[in-house]
Amino acid sequence: MFEVLPQLAPDPILGLSAAYREDNNPDKIDLGVGVYKDEQGNTPILTSVAKAQKILLERETSKTYITPQGHQGYIDNMLALLLGDKSPVLMADRVAGVQAPGGCGALRILSELLVRCNDNAKVWVSDPTWANHIPLIGSAGLKIETYPYFDKDTASIRFDAMMEALKKVEKGDIVLLHGCCHNPTGADLTNAQWDAVLDIAKEREFLPFLDVAYLGFGDGLEDDAYGVRLLAENLPEVIIAASCSKNFGLYRERVGLAAIITEDSKTRQIAQGQIQSVARGIYSMPPSYGGALVDIILSDTSLRKEWESEVNAMRNRMQTLRAMLVEKLEENGADKDFSFVNQQKGMFSFLCITPEQVREMRDKHSVYFVDSSRVNIAGINQQNVGTLAKALVSVL
Ligand SMILES: Cc1ncc(COP(=O)(O)O)c(C=O)c1O
Repeated sequence: MFEVLPQLAPDPILGLSAAYREDNNPDKIDLGVGVYKDEQGNTPILTSVAKAQKILLERETSKTYITPQGHQGYIDNMLALLLGDKSPVLMADRVAGVQAPGGCGALRILSELLVRCNDNAKVWVSDPTWANHIPLIGSAGLKIETYPYFDKDTASIRFDAMMEALKKVEKGDIVLLHGCCHNPTGADLTNAQWDAVLDIAKEREFLPFLDVAYLGFGDGLEDDAYGVRLLAENLPEVIIAASCSKNFGLYRERVGLAAIITEDSKTRQIAQGQIQSVARGIYSMPPSYGGALVDIILSDTSLRKEWESEVNAMRNRMQTLRAMLVEKLEENGADKDFSFVNQQKGMFSFLCITPEQVREMRDKHSVYFVDSSRVNIAGINQQNVGTLAKALVSVL
């Protein structure tokens, strides 16, 4: 049976990790996979998470299934984190939500739900967008279109072109927006640009699909929620896929949230039943562990404070690394202005160099990142930043 299947090319990011592991150069640098790393290159368990694990170990008395929607405490805490404690849409009982297996799981079940609503709907994604959006949304059966987003020549958002494209989106189509810390470019909309997106969404009556995978990694937990809250509070319908992989460091526990803001409370109930039925048809119930940990952290005042300061520390470290890289590039006489790296947000930056230059970085200097020139800023540290800057200047 399986002989009919074609051999697939290896996943570019996983292939890159394998090549990095096999490289014997002691000065090799991995800026590929999107996970946070500390100064020693480790992806640590957050202290708040380690404490929550101890509490959970004491508290948990059964491994029976959790409900299809997941831990209600997790869902409520996450919705308050994303939408604000006193969010009018929460007060009006207009938000359906389920715990999902990671942000990926959330993106997928929301896409399946959209197919149930309208199997002809188009989803507009930014050009470029996170590579996995395409299979996650496309495999559900939705058509994908792109809107212009980033200009590599000027290292900035093509906002006018984006707005022109959004003006042509039809009523009932879906527009995927990165809530903050755009992956792969690190280029985020300003608050004024979010305001303009809201106006277009009202005018064209499209459905915003917000992907929030890096809350807290841009300007802070509150500031990063500006776009999400703006659209949620001012439009009749919005859907949100959130992830706790990065800001809680819970990657392997697969914990995310799928939320649907509906026009009224009655439709909320219908949407809640439908999204649970979608999940039931794919994996039945979400894994419990990660959601239980997040619930413990967000429900406990002192653990929550500790977690917030850990998120702040990760964000500040990445901002420092951005500044360090820009400074080292200048010191090494780069004839290209890389100051845009300082303005970009979150874990990623597009270095805006050519695929040939990226390959030269890999082949000659053992610096590994994807051909698009997206680098994981958290892969930089005090030790390797000098080597990285020299290599980059030499391939320019
Ligand atoms: C933009 C974006 N959305 C969603 C996700 C999903 O993350 P996960 O499924 O690991 O929670 C990621 C992870 O890299 C991402 O970068």
